[in-house]
Amino acid sequence: MEGVIDAEMREVFTAVGGYDRCVTEFVRVTQQNIPDHVFFKYAPELKNGGLTRAGVPVYVQLLGGDAEAMGANAARLAKLEPKGIDLNFGCPSKTVNRREGGSVLLREPERVGQIVAAVRDAVDPSIPVTAKIRLGFSHTDDLERIVEEVSVAGASELCVHARTKENGYKPPAFWHELARVSEFTRSVNLPLIVNGDVWCTQSAQQALEQSGAQHIMLGRGALRTPDLARQIKANMADQAVDCLSWTQVLDKLIIYLRNTTNLHPMFVGNRAKQWLGFLQVTYPEAKDAFMTIKRLKEANAVLAALQCLMDDAA
Ligand SMILES: Cc1cc2nc3c(=O)[nH]c(=O)nc-3n(C[C@H](O)[C@H](O)[C@H](O)COP(=O)(O)O)c2cc1C
Repeated sequence: MEGVIDAEMREVFTAVGGYDRCVTEFVRVTQQNIPDHVFFKYAPELKNGGLTRAGVPVYVQLLGGDAEAMGANAARLAKLEPKGIDLNFGCPSKTVNRREGGSVLLREPERVGQIVAAVRDAVDPSIPVTAKIRLGFSHTDDLERIVEEVSVAGASELCVHARTKENGYKPPAFWHELARVSEFTRSVNLPLIVNGDVWCTQSAQQALEQSGAQHIMLGRGALRTPDLARQIKANMADQAVDCLSWTQVLDKLIIYLRNTTNLHPMFVGNRAKQWLGFLQVTYPEAKDAFMTIKRLKEANAVLAALQCLMDDAA
């Protein structure tokens, strides 16, 4: 998730467990050749065989509307041996859409197929190429066509955020709309991943049942509940699992911030406030932590304040 889930956050989540795969923030593709250092910035895991330290594969996400440029840059990326390449056809941002990237492409199902095919053809068959779409741009009428294009183009998997672009991020997510294509994706062996509004084990189960998808992708739910993937897996296996306590989560937040100080010291406060904003839903204590650091800007001051809270709680 752009500006939210970076490599350091992926380290936190995958260390907690339950995740089979991560996807990077999107790397925007224009007519220029993307230099290696940009790929490494978005996906430092490329220097670790494409894996987080916990051993979870990380796919690098590309976003762009020009099939040729997408293919050329995917070929450059492929030289760095990513575990997979994901293509973003879901971003609703006006800036991105104005430059013909993200969800605006869903208005042209054929073009979506051309982009997937260009990337598929440009990289070794051993590298999975996956697509992330929404139900459509302003309506869901083209969903079947988009999914067919993605499949024919040779995608290895398809993730559908169960909203249109116009739905934005507002609840609800329309998981049942995926059922229109799930029979088709099964028939062509295209694994289907449902995404949107999965906040707990119950909504995970409902999303799978209503969509007919085989897998789930978590977004904001992971930020609210860092061990959500672990909880979902345990629930599916009918196993009991201990949920993370507030102090365990606070500890993870502090570790995350410590690991990011060198990378973007100016942003530590913002990142902490942002994550605490999500955590408040699951952990009421996060609200106090947010209030404590609300006016702090300097990284060391934020860290010291959070450490104090940690010491008090211990
Ligand atoms: C701040 C923010 C940034 C996002 N960045 C990306 C991104 O870079 N790539 C992507 O595929 N989806 C991105 N998304 C969309 C999420 O991956 C996900 O599809 C969406 O939030 C719906 O899932 P959720 O309801 O579980 O959060 C972003 C969402 C948010 C809120």
